[in-house]
Amino acid sequence: MVLSFLLLSCATAALAGNHSYISRDVVVIGGGSSGTHAAFRLRQEGLSVALLERGNRLGGHVNTFRVPNTNTSFDFGVIFYHNISVASNYFSALGVDIIAAPSGGTSVSTYADINGDAKATTLVPPSMPWANSTAVTTATEKYVNLYNTQFSFLDDGFNFPDPVPEDILLPWADFMAKYGLDPISFSAYKYFSSLTAGGFLGIGPALITTADFNNQGIYDKALEKLGEGEGAFLNVTINHITRDEGGVSVTMKTPYGGEQTVRAKQLIIAIPPVVADLRAVGLDLSAEEEHLFGQASFRWYFDAVIRNSGLPDDIALSNIDFTKPDGIPIAPQIVLAVGQVGLTTGVPGLQSLYYSSDRNISNTDAQADILATLARYRAANGLDTSVKTEFVGFHNHEPFELTVPVDVIRKGYYKERNKLQGCRNT
Ligand SMILES: Cc1cc2nc3c(=O)[nH]c(=O)nc-3n(C[C@H](O)[C@H](O)[C@H](O)COP(=O)(O)OP(=O)(O)OC[C@H]3O[C@@H](n4cnc5c(N)ncnc54)[C@H](O)[C@@H]3O)c2cc1C
Ligand SMILES: *[C@@H]1O[C@H](CO)[C@@H](O)[C@H](O)[C@H]1NC(C)=O
Ligand SMILES: *[C@@H]1O[C@H](CO)[C@@H](O)[C@H](O)[C@H]1NC(C)=O
Ligand SMILES: *[C@@H]1O[C@H](CO)[C@@H](O)[C@H](O)[C@H]1NC(C)=O
Ligand SMILES: *[C@@H]1O[C@H](CO)[C@@H](O)[C@H](O)[C@H]1NC(C)=O
Ligand SMILES: *[C@@H]1O[C@H](CO)[C@@H](O)[C@H](O)[C@H]1NC(C)=O
Ligand SMILES: *[C@@H]1O[C@H](CO)[C@@H](O)[C@H](O)[C@H]1NC(C)=O
Repeated sequence: MVLSFLLLSCATAALAGNHSYISRDVVVIGGGSSGTHAAFRLRQEGLSVALLERGNRLGGHVNTFRVPNTNTSFDFGVIFYHNISVASNYFSALGVDIIAAPSGGTSVSTYADINGDAKATTLVPPSMPWANSTAVTTATEKYVNLYNTQFSFLDDGFNFPDPVPEDILLPWADFMAKYGLDPISFSAYKYFSSLTAGGFLGIGPALITTADFNNQGIYDKALEKLGEGEGAFLNVTINHITRDEGGVSVTMKTPYGGEQTVRAKQLIIAIPPVVADLRAVGLDLSAEEEHLFGQASFRWYFDAVIRNSGLPDDIALSNIDFTKPDGIPIAPQIVLAVGQVGLTTGVPGLQSLYYSSDRNISNTDAQADILATLARYRAANGLDTSVKTEFVGFHNHEPFELTVPVDVIRKGYYKERNKLQGCRNT
């Protein structure tokens, strides 16, 4: 039955004259971090793969800025990795050199209520719990210990105990207050793993990054190893994905051979599972998949490299709400930081910048708000107001951080979602 269907569709395609067929063990949709790693590991295990990416490079949220006329670069998207064997084995198999990520550097931590008076200060007001560095160290140790003893299941992703512990359903600031961890609620700012919190706050193993500050290099090497047009396909437009007992069929348009169909035993979906996007690739969603994925919402997040901000090169600026004990500003729109987290770009006149919003905002509007915010900051702090700031790098990372309401999680959302693993060859 399946076979005759296949023969029929082959014959139809053959008549059309311009449609090629590819057969692989596994087809992977999305060449970000997870899809690329999955494809590479499967190949290491001897399986054949087709990794399908719609962009013109692998790497997803990685954004590497190549400094013109130099052989140097810096990262302004993904910067850090955990120094764990799954990462270090991958990097060494790819031939990518790794260093401990520089921490702090020479940047000057500066705070301003950017949605308020925008006045800068380099001193944390003594009323803020993280003004006391002894208390910060104590709280970091306590957080790492608490995480390792009670919450380490978070390391495995969304595999929560049943029932889901009420603690992890608390808003961040309430969780931190409950455990007396307020001194790090601002700097850790969300449910970090113990390795991330320890690495960020300098008490655990160092986080790692690429020795040449070129995280894109990881993906360029992976592309080379997978073979472009062989194991990995760029600039792909996927039209249909159908799944049946015989396996998976993906119909797509590629720059390599026009219309192509990949026939595989199994499917890995490594794009954010937003229903509209899954429909856009023509996935044959079941009612249950549609119901589960349809409940997620996400945020908008942008990273940028700016030239000529009028702010000192060595500034690491955080937006802060001095009226809240945790200091974390409320979205909608905040400029998160100028200067890489704890680092400067190392290039005079260039700074990296992060901007987030929980409202739907276009690239144009986000850029306009960033420029207006910088102008307000300059005016409030006696800086040169005549500068013309330019964007030399800019990426929209929507959809960022898919999430569902707390009550939906409490009712076992992730357990239901995890049950889909392996179903329908997916
Ligand atoms: C600015 C920024 C900085 C970050 N920094 C860090 C950090 O320092 N350390 C860290 O651990 N994490 C960091 N993160 C989080 C980390 O980037 C993500 O957890 C990780 O990238 C998720 O990888 P992914 O492969 O699941 O998804 P993604 O990276 O989103 O990859 C999805 C891929 O699928 C492709 N795609 C989408 N739709 C289609 C389609 N229809 N057809 C084909 N391909 C498609 C996309 O182009 C993309 O390449 C950062 C995130 C952002 C946004
Ligand atoms: C993908 O598209 C970009 C332009 O967006 C182009 O420069 C690149 O050559 C294309 N790659 C392939 C393999 O076609
Ligand atoms: C990573 O951790 C290992 C020990 O687990 C250590 O030997 C190595 O130096 C670390 N690498 C970096 C770059 O910090
Ligand atoms: C800083 O915190 C430590 C540890 O919590 C505490 O013992 C000390 O009194 C605090 N110092 C000030 C000035 O509040
Ligand atoms: C550029 O830098 C890389 C590593 O950072 C090095 O391997 C390479 O040889 C350099 N190329 C030139 C032309 O200097
Ligand atoms: C196949 O399709 C591609 C793009 O759709 C086109 O560039 C190419 O010329 C076509 N080849 C043939 C043999 O028709
Ligand atoms: C965001 O707004 C744009 C432009 O109005 C629209 O095309 C897009 O679908 C919106 N996205 C979401 C997730 O609502």
